[in-house]
Amino acid sequence: MDCGTPLYICRDVSYTYPDGSAALDNVSLEICRGTSTAIIGVNGSGKSTLLLILSGLLNPSKGSILYKGVPLDKYRGLRREVGIVFQNPEDQFITSTVYEEIIFGPRQLGLEDDELESIVEEVSNQFMVKDLLGKSPFRLSGGEKRRVAIASIASYDPEIFILDEPFQDLSLNYKIMLIKYLVNKAREGHTIIYSCNDTDIPIFFVDYIGILYRGKLIAYGEAGDIIRDMDLLRSAELDTSILKTFYRLLDNEDVNIPFSIDILDKILDL
Ligand SMILES: Nc1ncnc2c1ncn2[C@@H]1O[C@H](COP(=O)(O)OP(=O)(O)OP(=O)(O)O)[C@@H](O)[C@H]1O
Ligand SMILES: [Mg+2]
Repeated sequence: MDCGTPLYICRDVSYTYPDGSAALDNVSLEICRGTSTAIIGVNGSGKSTLLLILSGLLNPSKGSILYKGVPLDKYRGLRREVGIVFQNPEDQFITSTVYEEIIFGPRQLGLEDDELESIVEEVSNQFMVKDLLGKSPFRLSGGEKRRVAIASIASYDPEIFILDEPFQDLSLNYKIMLIKYLVNKAREGHTIIYSCNDTDIPIFFVDYIGILYRGKLIAYGEAGDIIRDMDLLRSAELDTSILKTFYRLLDNEDVNIPFSIDILDKILDL
């Protein structure tokens, strides 16, 4: 990948949990600034582990990671720059109301009260959680928890968004809202990395896709190349049925991957 100094350079990264479970096996990849990447793979393939490593919350058992040219564990200011949304939103919640959850990050940055108010207003509108502000984040539906977890990261607008299965539990309208939000963030220059456990609409909106299978990165490249390689997707045991609908769209129209946002409306009409 050619982008000057990549944002991340992972070299032969392996990770074994303390109980001996080997989760990642010699993963090497580079991620460029301002790009969007989906990490896909079936259950247990290592996606969450890789995202935790990229966010600096787990250190590789073996191998190295450079972030902006510096060893990741030596980089100062990572917490401010990298926002991670956990697969299980409850792992992220630390306050007793959705309101507090959303302003927690910005408050740490020392923003004034009126700025905090306008952030809550903007972010709660964006993620459609306005009616939930007074509720406990632990007493929400699955999709509501997910949206609040994403909103609480979006509220401090990190340079890098790492999202572990952010589309899980979201109904179609929320899924579309989130795709549009992330596409716009990438366009503004943010770097977006998310995992999906299958082949779904969101993987058509990223620049790059990596496929994890049993802890190995078996493919990594431009999204269009990966998505068109049915044999590869099947070899990773991924569900390819949904892709057939989109292939028809690719055949009929002058459409490139990644899809632009206006293609979403066409997809909805299929
Ligand atoms: N805390 C842990 N302790 C021990 N083993 C773990 C732990 N977390 C994950 N594993 C193991 O590591 C491997 C990779 O898990 P990981 O959660 O990274 O997969 P995943 O691709 O995110 O799966 P899913 O689609 O189910 O979220 C699995 O075999 C899992 O059992
Ligand atoms: Mg996971």
